Amino acid sequence: MTAVFNTTSSDQTEEFASRFAALLKAGDIITLDGDLGAGKTCFARGVARGMGSPSHVSSPTFTIVNEYEGGRLPVYHFDTYRLGGCEDFVMAGLDEYLWKDGVCLIEWSDIIGDIIPGSAVRIRIEGTGDVRRFVIECPGGEMYNSLTRIIEEMGL
Ligand SMILES: Nc1ncnc2c1ncn2[C@@H]1O[C@H](COP(=O)(O)OP(=O)(O)OP(=O)(O)O)[C@@H](O)[C@H]1O
Ligand SMILES: [Mg+2]
Repeated sequence: MTAVFNTTSSDQTEEFASRFAALLKAGDIITLDGDLGAGKTCFARGVARGMGSPSHVSSPTFTIVNEYEGGRLPVYHFDTYRLGGCEDFVMAGLDEYLWKDGVCLIEWSDIIGDIIPGSAVRIRIEGTGDVRRFVIECPGGEMYNSLTRIIEEMGL
């Protein structure tokens, strides 16, 4: 099931993401795709905040993965922009994170598309300026219902 909504500021995106974090459980994988500057890292910042992690969230472009601890669940934040594909991901041992007891957020997941499980929550962000359109494909109806509630509560 697919949830679609707009945010009108980075603060609103972060707020939505922090509420979304409450729906996540250990082992969940969230993909974040969209053009450069779409708001993927902004969303990840909100998820880490919503988990209760005090970590500073920045783009892990050079390190591929950042870990944010100290919250309800660890958050593993990937930016696969510089990888050539799944082989690079596996060669670097990064696939082990997919089975850990945390939440994986993967920017530019299309690059490693073949390795992303079908159970992943897929988030696509579109648009420029202050209005960004979010298209969230949920693996199950329960998450879709919770997302719809957050969207309504926030008036998005
Ligand atoms: N509604 C919005 N939601 C999110 N970000 C927004 C919004 N409106 C404006 N912005 C701005 O868009 C930019 C998003 O940057 P961010 O680093 O999150 O993008 P990204 O998708 O991670 O980029 P990259 O592909 O370089 O990793 C920020 O400068 C933010 O302030
Ligand atoms: Mg980013």
